[in-house]
Amino acid sequence: MAWVYIEDLGRHPGEEVTLRGWLYNRRSSGKVHFLLVRDGTGVCQCVAGINDLGPEAFAAADHLGQETSLEVTGVVREDQRAPGGRELMVKRLNVVAPATDYPITPKEHGVAFLLDQRHLWIRSSRQHAILRIRSEVAAACRDFFAERGFVLFDAPILTPTSCEGTTNLFEIDYFGERKAYLTQSGQLYAEAGALAFGKVYCFGPTFRAEKSKTRRHLTEFWMVEPEVAYFNLDDDMQLAEDFVAYIVTRVLERRGAELKTLERDLAPLARAAQKPFARIAYDEAIERLRAKGFAVQWGDDLGGDEETALSNDFATPMLVHRYPAACKPFYMKRDPARPELALCVDMLAPEGYGEIIGGGQREDDYATLRARILERQLPLEPFNWYLDLRRYGSVPHAGFGMGIERAVTWLCGLHHVREAAPFPRMMERLEP
Ligand code: 4AD
Ligand code: MG
Repeated sequence: MAWVYIEDLGRHPGEEVTLRGWLYNRRSSGKVHFLLVRDGTGVCQCVAGINDLGPEAFAAADHLGQETSLEVTGVVREDQRAPGGRELMVKRLNVVAPATDYPITPKEHGVAFLLDQRHLWIRSSRQHAILRIRSEVAAACRDFFAERGFVLFDAPILTPTSCEGTTNLFEIDYFGERKAYLTQSGQLYAEAGALAFGKVYCFGPTFRAEKSKTRRHLTEFWMVEPEVAYFNLDDDMQLAEDFVAYIVTRVLERRGAELKTLERDLAPLARAAQKPFARIAYDEAIERLRAKGFAVQWGDDLGGDEETALSNDFATPMLVHRYPAACKPFYMKRDPARPELALCVDMLAPEGYGEIIGGGQREDDYATLRARILERQLPLEPFNWYLDLRRYGSVPHAGFGMGIERAVTWLCGLHHVREAAPFPRMMERLEP
């Protein structure tokens, strides 16, 4: 038996092969059954005639339930009319395990129902396309940094303290002796890595106990975070721009079929891969928003609606830099020319998708950083090791974090970030 994946069928014209998969759909003309079989790499139309299968197996094939697992052996036939350009002329059909009353049918289901059935919903063509694009994005992230000599430097998930602020931490009982927290970002550890290896990135799950039910917020998401010694804010913005352009180009090149399944408009994506990206200072962002009628004041952080309005002005992703330091975390370095500003950057995706990247230059002066920790009323003790990085050979350094689900939501053109994770975690959802 020559077991072949559907995506490789093109290499076996006229040969007898076996597909192993699941029944996606079927129809029958009475004398011929058309079984649509999926195997995770694609869908293939398998044509089974009564003479090929014999009357008994032929009759049984007419009652197979959706998602029955099966092995089909037959000859590969090129046919431009068939989905995928080829079909399988069936000789043998072996049911591995039956499926009856599969809960997800081709009719419309509500999102809450589908999320309850997430373990099965991921078999549907649309979800399949999204998660394959997610896989491509993750691979592109790793390749981008590997090609540039970055060291993968994974940060811990259990941490003794907060990174991004104390209000949205998941607290854990650590052996009944002390509290631990699920990490909000690997950044502080990546900074230690950068001072050891020059350029590093971490890539792992991060957690935010955010009580926000927006379409951009998950409580668990994956973040990829580069950190580079001797980088300033400009270097950091350049890296972020190169990184995102690389990812968009890669997805366009390799995931065209999935983008088509999603009916994604490709023109704006192609434009989004064109460097340079738009860059504006926070000051200008506020002016633009006020001109659009938003009641924002200088000093306000930008919310989802503001980000959407701003990003609608440009075809490329946009880099908004130098926010007021007061609305950013303690570790941000201040702009020496205007100390009320942080040397930070957010990247907003085009087409109204909002923030996909946050980052900037880090405070590298020991006394200043120590003062900032105290100013924010954070405990000093858990940050001693972090302050050490400023005690022993401190250098300017910068980095950023990109949330994978946010990026995938934009690239796939999704309404809600929940479809960009295999099993999304939100305030109101922990199952399945
Ligand atoms: O802007 P954030 O909070 O930045 C940091 O955590 C920095 N420490 C990163 C760094 O400099 N190394 O988060 C970075 C990105 C956001 O731009 C967004 O893409 C994503 O993480 N993100 C979320 N994604 C989904 N759900 C949430 N609740 C998210 N919060 C942040
Ligand atoms: Mg942010």
